[in-house]
Amino acid sequence: MAENPVTDWATDFDIGDPTYETDPYQIWDELRERCPIAHTERRGGAWLPTRYDDVAAIAYDTEHFSSRDTSVLPSPEGSTTLVAPPITSDPPFHTAARRILLPFFSPREVEKLEKKTRSVCTELLDAIEQRAGGDPTVVADAAGDYAQHIPVRIIAHMLGIPESDEGRFTDWAVRIFQEGASDPEITRTAIREILDFFGDEVERRRQERSEDLISFLLDAELDGGPLTEKHILGTCFLLLMAGIDTTWSSIGSSLWHLAVTPDDRDRLVAEPELLPTAVEELLRAYAPVTMGREVVAETEVNGCPMHVGDKVLLNFPSGNRDPEKFDRADEVLIDREQNRHFAFGIGIHRCLGSNVARMEMRVALECWLERFPTFALAEGTEVRWGGAQVRGPRAVPVLLV
Ligand code: HEM
Repeated sequence: MAENPVTDWATDFDIGDPTYETDPYQIWDELRERCPIAHTERRGGAWLPTRYDDVAAIAYDTEHFSSRDTSVLPSPEGSTTLVAPPITSDPPFHTAARRILLPFFSPREVEKLEKKTRSVCTELLDAIEQRAGGDPTVVADAAGDYAQHIPVRIIAHMLGIPESDEGRFTDWAVRIFQEGASDPEITRTAIREILDFFGDEVERRRQERSEDLISFLLDAELDGGPLTEKHILGTCFLLLMAGIDTTWSSIGSSLWHLAVTPDDRDRLVAEPELLPTAVEELLRAYAPVTMGREVVAETEVNGCPMHVGDKVLLNFPSGNRDPEKFDRADEVLIDREQNRHFAFGIGIHRCLGSNVARMEMRVALECWLERFPTFALAEGTEVRWGGAQVRGPRAVPVLLV
């Protein structure tokens, strides 16, 4: 994916560089020390803050930094930026657009999804076990055979769209967040297909409502009137995309960590009550999401002048490993008590789906460890990491016993 190899990460970084995808941790450590806000002219140009406090300051500052284009890559030429409320909205509109969705993501609603999540996990584990047929040499893919399928089925269930179409939904997420980095046309086509798909789904519910999120949006009100078609389609787009490869990446990196760290794996098997703190720590250490912002008024961050039109990448993953904020920042401590990480963002756009994601991670890890308590990385196979905006392992080959 790299146009040409990076020689100086401070002045010429490339988040699509294979090294950045596979092992960005040393790059961030070095930048935090040497040049905490890196810059590049590649891919249309961008700033990359690496310290927790700088990332947080930008995320909180909605006066100078707009969310109207949150992509970390340049938008396809000639395209109008996709409107996907509330993630692409700025104040004051953002508050109302977000408020509409809150009831659907409350802890009570999320609790109702736990049984469904457990049954999805069980079904996937049964299939993996059946394929292995008791042969200890058979390699399973903890990312591709398991993690990848859980969040997409849950968000499909919430939206009321067919779970059996999960392959199509995943393909859209892969095209937008992974393949689109090398060819913007791929992103453009996938966005059009998603909006067409939801156009049909909305039309069907205009005839007859059901109990799902799309029907809920059709009846929602903003400023005393119904939402526009554009708003509804953009929000459906956001929920489908936000709910797929984010959590898939986090479940995948958690299983990868446990596959290569038998002490943590064994401790979680013996003390499953540690799962909630372990989930937080795995989210901190392997935070998948980096978001874009656009500078809309001249400003300065930590002495670094930023100009109108500049792109800034909110590097939550690096901030989460900032030693000024976290003790032993580069270590994974599954019983870490103080853990104010910002894997879910910070400020007004903080993740609306965090309760769903946490529940999915906890249930997915619990079910996996109950079934395969001694699983381990398969020697001599390749773990493949990928993703610029949403980073995670795309293949985690493991032996189940
Ligand atoms: C581990 C999984 C997840 C991670 C790491 C994650 C991360 C994030 C981050 C960093 C943001 C902030 C964006 C910004 O500042 O521009 C965000 C926003 C959002 N996320 Fe998530 N997310 C995850 C799962 C989910 C799920 C499962 C859903 C839905 C079912 C979801 C829905 C949303 C929505 C709607 C927003 C926009 C909130 C707003 O703009 O007010 N996310 N997420």
